[in-house]
Amino acid sequence: MSTDNSKNHAVQYDHFGHIDVLNIVSLPIPSPKAGEVLVKVKTAGINPGEASIREGKLQQQFPSTFPSGQGTDFAGIVETTGDGITDFKAGDEVIGFSNNRNSQAEYVVVKADQLVPRPPKVSWEQAGGLFVAGTTAYAAVRAVNLKAGDTVIISGAAGGVGSLAVQIAKKQGAKVIGIASEHNHEWLKKHGIVPVNYEGNIEQNLKTALNGAKADAFIDTAGKGYVDIAVQMGIPADRINTIIDFEAVEKYKIKAEGSAAASTAEVLSELAQMVNDGELEIPVAKTYPLKHVKEAYQELEKHHTHGKIVLIASAN
Ligand SMILES: NC(=O)c1ccc[n+]([C@@H]2O[C@H](COP(=O)([O-])OP(=O)(O)OC[C@H]3O[C@@H](n4cnc5c(N)ncnc54)[C@H](OP(=O)(O)O)[C@@H]3O)[C@@H](O)[C@H]2O)c1
Repeated sequence: MSTDNSKNHAVQYDHFGHIDVLNIVSLPIPSPKAGEVLVKVKTAGINPGEASIREGKLQQQFPSTFPSGQGTDFAGIVETTGDGITDFKAGDEVIGFSNNRNSQAEYVVVKADQLVPRPPKVSWEQAGGLFVAGTTAYAAVRAVNLKAGDTVIISGAAGGVGSLAVQIAKKQGAKVIGIASEHNHEWLKKHGIVPVNYEGNIEQNLKTALNGAKADAFIDTAGKGYVDIAVQMGIPADRINTIIDFEAVEKYKIKAEGSAAASTAEVLSELAQMVNDGELEIPVAKTYPLKHVKEAYQELEKHHTHGKIVLIASAN
């Protein structure tokens, strides 16, 4: 990666493939048109869906053209604004989302309604990793209609989405059972979540955790047959939501609300405020400089991240 400050160093790839297709390229710094804002990116989260798109697995739902950039999540500082922008000015600290798969870069242009101010107590790392995982967790919890006293089971409970879903569900007064590997149990307990190990007999482990009570809802963020388990437990279809097992959605007519159901600046702002107020922790597992994007995805694609992996695009 060169150090030319007049360029936008960005993640790109020009054909589908594994992590080795990712490159850092030098592009012109984009200019904001009317209604748009140019942001100097400080941090940008990474998400498993980006790896699936890069591998060509989601061509039906999310078609690609090449060369393709990558990334939705980001946080940074407003550099310039296009005509008609009154809500943001140069120097403002913002959290945002791109709909053009290009946030893993030093600069990104987005519409002003894809930005919210960064509240002061939200770290840059948390801010950059907030959007996709946050809106997905928000939508998934909302989909299962929790009321105080309900018991909800959440799979992948310590991952990027799951770690936020357990906290949002808890905040709604539910008893939350979180399925995760043993090394995440302390963190779950710290948040008032009942941890359940997925190793061994998962049905038996859940029975033990329920201690004779019944589960009212299930949020699946892991796939791997958890929806079948939820159905077998007698949880009604309209109180089961998965963000990954789309075959099970067809089969059981359960819900599949994810990021798209809550991709708004309003939800992003609400989540950021929760983080700022100490009501939502975004665990940041690891950060990598932008130029080490391949290593970041190597870590993510082990599928055992606790919280978020975030790229650092610029330190100042
Ligand atoms: N539909 C949407 O809008 C949407 C949005 C975002 C993500 N997604 C999808 O949702 C999934 C989760 O995303 P993410 O960002 O949370 O991923 P992530 O951060 O990589 O988390 C993966 C989690 O899966 C857990 N896991 C691995 N094997 C497991 C098993 N056998 N049983 C239970 N948990 C297991 C890991 O927990 P341990 O470390 O405890 O093993 C880890 O915490 C991905 O497939 C992603 O593509 C969908």
